[in-house]
Amino acid sequence: MEVDKVYLGDCVKIMKTLPNKSVDLVFADPPFNIGLKYDVYNDNLSYEKYYKWSEEWVKEACRLLKNSGAIYVAIGDEFAAELNIILKRRGFYFRNWIVWHYTFGQNQRKKFTRAHTHILYFTKDKARFTFNDKHIRVPSARQLVYKDKRANPLGKIPDDVWQFSRICGTFKERLGRHPCQMPESLLERIISVSSNEGDTVLDPFGGTGTTAAVAKKLKRHFITMEISEEYYDIILRRLNLRRVKSVSEDEEEEQRTLFAVLR
Ligand SMILES: C[S@@+](CC[C@H](N)C(=O)[O-])C[C@H]1O[C@@H](n2cnc3c(N)ncnc32)[C@H](O)[C@@H]1O
Repeated sequence: MEVDKVYLGDCVKIMKTLPNKSVDLVFADPPFNIGLKYDVYNDNLSYEKYYKWSEEWVKEACRLLKNSGAIYVAIGDEFAAELNIILKRRGFYFRNWIVWHYTFGQNQRKKFTRAHTHILYFTKDKARFTFNDKHIRVPSARQLVYKDKRANPLGKIPDDVWQFSRICGTFKERLGRHPCQMPESLLERIISVSSNEGDTVLDPFGGTGTTAAVAKKLKRHFITMEISEEYYDIILRRLNLRRVKSVSEDEEEEQRTLFAVLR
């Protein structure tokens, strides 16, 4: 399978063209179905449609994941419970329900400001998976506050509530007009702990290419997909890649050839 590749098109269709058990880690940050304004994607599907579509992409991601692999799904309050069930029904083993608590949530007028996203962490196998705890340890209160000699000098494994700032419009890291670019620091933790150098990381919902960019920085291979041409171009620029033909362009060309033959 070709790696270090960005596809333009529908991730379900594209994943169907890729071989079984070919990736080590999946990070998926799908649209949350909360009416966000994306370039082309309609983030306002009926409950049934969104649920069915979530089942479809989870099924393909599961097929592509090696038996030793892990999947992390970022999801909002509205569908976190549903995604948790879909992942369990697909046969994944639950490991953590991580809450990403961020600063700079968008101000609300008639409800409380949203300041978190759920990140569901599952593995394909119950016992065999990568977890490089040494790469993500953080200083503990035992070390810093209580100066306890028994504290592990390497720090502790982070809790399941994570603090990273959201990428706001004015941030230097912000790329283009994408409404929900994730911080690289969050992807650094996930990719460092759940994959090794040389592994392949898949993100079916590329957005601005955060997962691919961090995977590249951490010497992993990446495969990502994005349905919007505008965002696809942002990803290519971010990764210093040249434009290549998309699956849909290939399909169109096939159809043109077929019509020419039939005529
Ligand atoms: C929540 S954003 C991902 C943001 C990304 N994590 C980042 O850091 O930039 C979801 C992305 O999925 C894309 N998308 C929606 N449906 C898709 C599909 N069927 N195939 C591929 N991409 C899709 C949207 O255009 C949007 O950019």
